[in-house]
Amino acid sequence: MKNFARIIGTGSYLPPKIVTNFDLEKTLDTTDEWITSRTGIKERRIVNNESTCDLAVPACLNALSMAELKPQDIDFIILSTTTPDKIFPATATMLQNRLGASCPAFDIQAVCAGFVFALNTAQQYIENGSATNILVVGSETMSKIVDWNDRSTAILFADGAGAVVLSADNNTGIKYSKLYSDGNYLSSLQVNNNRINELGTIEMEGNEVFKIAVNKLSDLAEETLKECNMTSENIDWMIPHQANIRIISAVAKRIKLPMEKVILTVEKHGNTSAASIPLALDIGIRDGRINKGDTLLFEGIGGGFSWGSVLAEF
Ligand code: ACO
Repeated sequence: MKNFARIIGTGSYLPPKIVTNFDLEKTLDTTDEWITSRTGIKERRIVNNESTCDLAVPACLNALSMAELKPQDIDFIILSTTTPDKIFPATATMLQNRLGASCPAFDIQAVCAGFVFALNTAQQYIENGSATNILVVGSETMSKIVDWNDRSTAILFADGAGAVVLSADNNTGIKYSKLYSDGNYLSSLQVNNNRINELGTIEMEGNEVFKIAVNKLSDLAEETLKECNMTSENIDWMIPHQANIRIISAVAKRIKLPMEKVILTVEKHGNTSAASIPLALDIGIRDGRINKGDTLLFEGIGGGFSWGSVLAEF
């Protein structure tokens, strides 16, 4: 009998400090109107002193509580982050310690696609029978690698964390997942440090990233539906990486999915990179929109580029 990897718990956490577009108008040559019309973002959460691990802890505790599991029940912790607290050890091991878990724990780095890369990785362990319960986390403090004087990137990125518990299930769960990377695009989106001990800040050719994101994510959504013998009518909810409302709506339009079936958090969260998908998922579940048995399509793309999709029954 096949082991499916099924989502049985979700959790999220946002730092309390809200930075609105009007706050950014005070320090940058920008306007609320420009940011809202180009991106759909109105406000974002930014850490004061919290670390990436600090954000991940409450997100994981909430996910464990929904799953009715204890940290000791977890077989792996897989944390996707672009902003680890240290070069080493992995932030996942600090998280393991803070949670009181004792399982193997490691980080995955695929920028804004990190969460789908982590879900796909966890799926393999569960399907091959080497794990029963896995904590999959996306946690980011993107504000630490933003150049706050660069209006083209400072308006986009933000901080937050989301987590899911994946558990072995005989009946249903993740039906399909697919990952891609193409390292040709280094100059389109990267952190501009040349040495490992320089932090660096994000630099991006926004227009180029926009076009590639729409094309790759639309192609991948079509491929995912085809591989699952589905059309967009079979999708109850698309939970995309939340980078820009215009990217999300262009993809939804290409696959003929009404926007009423898309979970959107970009307006209030901005782009929280690897955290954006589990944050949106948790919000959609806790406000009652996503229900057991729903078919969910996750998609994300990030620097590299790396991109991926997961189709799952909840
Ligand atoms: N406020 C006001 N004006 C601005 C701002 C700002 N914050 N930022 C840029 N501008 C100006 C530019 O300087 C330019 O001025 P110019 O015409 O005098 O040269 C003008 O606005 C247009 O700039 P564009 O870059 O062409 O604007 P565009 O419509 O492409 O929007 C944006 C920029 C929002 C960054 C868009 O390209 C985008 O969202 N790209 C995707 C980037 C993204 O989501 N990256 C996240 C990481 S990857 C991922 O998650 C998918």
